This record gives sequence, C-alpha cells and structure tokens, in this order.
Amino acid sequence: MMTTQNPPEHYPITHKIVPTFYFVGVTTGQSSINKVFPRWAQALGRPDVVLEGVDCKLNDDPENYRRAVAQIKYDPLSLGGLVTAHKINLLNAARDMFDYLDPCAQICGEVSSISKRDGALRGHAKDPITSGLSLDAIIDKGYFGRSGGDILCYGAGGSAVAIALHLINKQSAGDRPKRFVVVNRSQGRLDHLKQMVDSQQTDIAFEYIHNQDPVRNDAIMASMPAGTIVINATGMGKDTPGSPITDDGVFPEHGIAWELNYRGELDFWHQSMAQAESRHLLVEDGWLYFLHGWTQVVAEVLNITLTPETFAKLGELAADLRPPLVFRGAK
Ligand SMILES: NC(=O)c1ccc[n+]([C@@H]2O[C@H](COP(=O)([O-])OP(=O)(O)OC[C@H]3O[C@@H](n4cnc5c(N)ncnc54)[C@H](OP(=O)(O)O)[C@@H]3O)[C@@H](O)[C@H]2O)c1
Repeated sequence: MMTTQNPPEHYPITHKIVPTFYFVGVTTGQSSINKVFPRWAQALGRPDVVLEGVDCKLNDDPENYRRAVAQIKYDPLSLGGLVTAHKINLLNAARDMFDYLDPCAQICGEVSSISKRDGALRGHAKDPITSGLSLDAIIDKGYFGRSGGDILCYGAGGSAVAIALHLINKQSAGDRPKRFVVVNRSQGRLDHLKQMVDSQQTDIAFEYIHNQDPVRNDAIMASMPAGTIVINATGMGKDTPGSPITDDGVFPEHGIAWELNYRGELDFWHQSMAQAESRHLLVEDGWLYFLHGWTQVVAEVLNITLTPETFAKLGELAADLRPPLVFRGAK
C-alpha cells in the first residue's frame, strides 16, 4: 500500500525546505546526537540533512504521536526519524498510518525507526538488533552457560522487550539465561511483554513482577544468582529522577550492571559503581547502545548500507562528544 500525498486536514504539515531527520524523545535537546549528527551527515555524504527534535511527554496524548508521524508521512522533505522512549506508545497511537512494519515491529509492538521508500511509510523495531549488538559486546559467547547468571530487568518497556527477544533468538543454550525476571511499575507493560514472549518458543523462564517499590526491588536483586545481569531499563536517572533500587541494594557477585542511558544523573550507574570492586561487578552504560541505535536508524532512513567499517568510523567521529561520566564516589 502506498502513502497518499494528501494529509488529513486536522494534521497541519510543515513543508520543510531542507531534508529533515526527526528525533522523537523526551529531552531531545540534551542528547549528544545534536552535535554528533552533523558530523555523521557529512561523513555519509548527506551534509544537507538536518536533525530536528520532537519532545513528547512520557505516555503523551496519542494525537501528539499521530501528528509527529503525519509530518513525516506527508511532507516530502521529512525523511524519517528515530523514536526513543515512546516506541510502544507511538505505534499504538499511529499503527494505521504505516504502510509497512518489519517483523520485529510486529512481534515487539514498537517502532524505533520511521523511514520512507518509494512513497511508503515504514516502521522498524531496530532495538532487538541494537540492544543485541550492545549486549553481545558486553558479554562473551556462552556467558550464561558459564556464569549461571540470569537477567533482572527493571522496566518492561520497549528496550526490555527488545532485549528479551534478542535473548530468545540466541541459538546456543549457553547464550540464553535460564530466567529473565522483569519488574515494572504498570501491569500493562508486563502484559505487553508477556504477550510477545508467549508468541515465541523459548526455554527461558520469564517472571513478571508488578512493583515500583525500590526496597522490594533490592530484595528481588538480592535473590538473583551470581553472574546475573541487572539492567536499568526504567529511564530513572535520566527521564525521571532516582533509581529503581536503593543505595542499600546489593548487586549479584560477579554480575553485570547495565544502565541503558549514558547521560543524566545516572543514579543506578553510580550505585553499581560503588559496588564494582566489592561485588566484582562489570558496570556498563548506554553509550554503545546509543551508537548502535542511532547508526542503524540513520542508515535505514538515508538508505545507506552500514558496514562494520562505517560503524567504526561513525563511532570515532562521535567519541569526543560523549558526555564525561565521572563516578561521584560511594555515599
Ligand atoms: N543508550 C541508548 O541509546 C538507549 C537506547 C534505548 C533506550 N534507552 C533508554 O532506556 C530507557 C528505557 O527505554 P524504553 O524505550 O524501554 O522506555 P519505555 O518504553 O518508556 O519503558 C520504561 C519502562 O520502565 C517502567 N518504569 C519506570 N519507572 C519504574 C520503576 N520505578 N519501577 C519499575 N518500572 C518502572 C515504565 O513503566 P510504566 O509502564 O509504568 O510507565 C516503563 O514500562 C529510556 O530512558 C531510554 O532513553 C537508551
């Protein structure tokens, strides 16, 4: 099905005079991509393309998501964009406006990439690829078989769904955790994740916990085996203040703490850094995830083949723009 060129009257479209790539997020002005993007556009031979942020509130009015999608769909120079934090809500609000959804978008019920080809509006869920590339860079092959660790994921939003699907799809048993424990504030997101998991065949035991009490989150973390990867996929410490755990929470020994963000207060990252030595933790942030996430979507929107060499080059171009991450010390 092809996109019609006539927008519905209730979505006023701005006719851009330069090719525009949108970034739909929460606090887009603060992202490193604003400085990184012009370098990448130049390096990819598209210096004419500009980046424009669209800030939406978390769980915004569905009409705001539809308006953002309509702008891309109906304005010829609006090339596409990247969606963060609103991946599930945007697709829920605007599913009928897409002409094509890739299999991951259909399975995960989310879109992180909006692009156009031959007049058709396309949505992709790149996160299973990008979170997977990031996680695979953190752990060695056979990590779960060797360490006996599980996954504890705070937050059951788009990223959690993507990480879960990435692990479900691992061919070798040693690359799959035995358990994937996920904790979320709203029951709806847990149901959404469960729906995705139930549509797949997997031997990973998923446990869904409806909770937002940090003290209970500490207790859940304390019950996880050594080697467990604890993920902060709540957005707390960037999109909202705080951390899903308290300062008293004890990380699994020889585990991995993965904060999905690379900017903001990053309380969870600081909490895990405080235990890096005593609990023999590997502590990671979201910079690599940022690079994979953006390069995959930029390549899709600009119709560029992303080779490992191109990725490496774009990573180098961004490196000095990474915000400094300095551990503020144990409390
Ligand atoms: N480095 C990168 O490039 C990169 C890439 C992807 C994602 N991220 C970051 O990772 C974070 C998660 O992304 P996402 O796309 O998965 O966002 P999302 O879809 O908004 O999911 C966040 C989830 O966390 C839950 N939550 C919030 N506070 C909680 C709490 N105290 N306890 C338990 N659950 C809580 C929310 O629950 P409700 O259902 O109640 O709202 C929501 O389901 C965002 O901050 C995003 O910026 C970074």
